[in-house]
Amino acid sequence: MQILLPIVVGIFAYFGLKWFLQGPIFRSSKKLEGQTVVVTGANTGIGLETAKDLYGRGARVICLCRNVTKGQKAIDSIKQDSSSNPQTGEILLRVMDLSSMDSIRAAAEKLLQEESRLDILILNAGVMMSPRTPKTADGFDMQMGTNHLGHFLFTRLLIGLLKKTAQDHQQNVRVVTVASSAHMFADGPIRLHDLNWDNEEDFSPGQAYFQSKLANILFSRELGKRLAGTGITTYSLHPGVIATELNRHASESSNIVAFLFHFIFYTVFGGMIKTPVHGAQTTLYCSLEESLKDVTGKYYSDCKEFTPTKYAMDNEHAQELWELSEQLTKTHNLPL
Ligand SMILES: NC(=O)c1ccc[n+]([C@@H]2O[C@H](COP(=O)([O-])OP(=O)(O)OC[C@H]3O[C@@H](n4cnc5c(N)ncnc54)[C@H](OP(=O)(O)O)[C@@H]3O)[C@@H](O)[C@H]2O)c1
Repeated sequence: MQILLPIVVGIFAYFGLKWFLQGPIFRSSKKLEGQTVVVTGANTGIGLETAKDLYGRGARVICLCRNVTKGQKAIDSIKQDSSSNPQTGEILLRVMDLSSMDSIRAAAEKLLQEESRLDILILNAGVMMSPRTPKTADGFDMQMGTNHLGHFLFTRLLIGLLKKTAQDHQQNVRVVTVASSAHMFADGPIRLHDLNWDNEEDFSPGQAYFQSKLANILFSRELGKRLAGTGITTYSLHPGVIATELNRHASESSNIVAFLFHFIFYTVFGGMIKTPVHGAQTTLYCSLEESLKDVTGKYYSDCKEFTPTKYAMDNEHAQELWELSEQLTKTHNLPL
């Protein structure tokens, strides 16, 4: 009997904490018939669950994935899981590797040729704690290049279509960027002096990830500012700590910080942290919540507004990062 009590308390504590850590579920009956949504990195994790939900609301969902086999498998599974829902829209696969500007330009060009509207752009794909090499095809740091510069270029190329959608349909159009609360671990402001970690001695896989997520928030903030009055609004968010494949580099890393991060979050607490379905909720909230249609450039977590660090709210840095990103992606001559 004496031994039973701590076991029962332990079981309650475990499931109580697990329930608490899952966070809120975004409830909305909003339908998206006739609307087009693009989700990057939709073949697994949060991106897959986001795409599935929006497809279930009747949207035409375009999944941008770098691997055709994985992308097709994800789409097949989404269709199968949604087979009993009579209100699904369309779901299709397009290829884009965010670590290559050629691939991003080709994907954007195809989208511009094929699509007459784009209502919600979800910048979700990401890599975490990848090593210093390889760099991206264009010589950028893999994390900054994929998580920020790749998405920056992609968005920059699609702004005309986003604007046209807002104008033609007289409606709110959204750009949602999946960032992370990990931006708070950045040990300084955005590294405008060495965005791509060319100075080898400074590099740490963790800091490179934190900086790329800081860049995500600054980008969303600046984009919102630059598009004010166009009908396009922007949001960045922390999805929670979620059991996905994101930790793949950390689990293999010889870097002690990366390894400990993986061990603590994914091994010790692996059974408690958010499921991908729960991890998609704040993305869905930012994409669909009606009360946010006149709000732009803010940061969210667990389906509510959150204040990011002072480095993530630095408007001067946001503007400088925008200008540097334009130079690096050769988009400074594109009209906004
Ligand atoms: N999981 C968490 O705890 C957590 C916490 C905070 C923020 N986030 C953020 O949430 C977002 C989604 O992550 P997740 O947890 O769902 O991770 P995930 O399961 O690893 O999914 C990441 C997605 O990004 C794609 N991707 C990676 N590099 C790419 C590239 N070069 N080009 C195109 N696609 C690429 C992956 O494709 P492949 O399958 O082909 O690699 C995959 O589809 C990320 O931005 C991440 O930073 C996650």
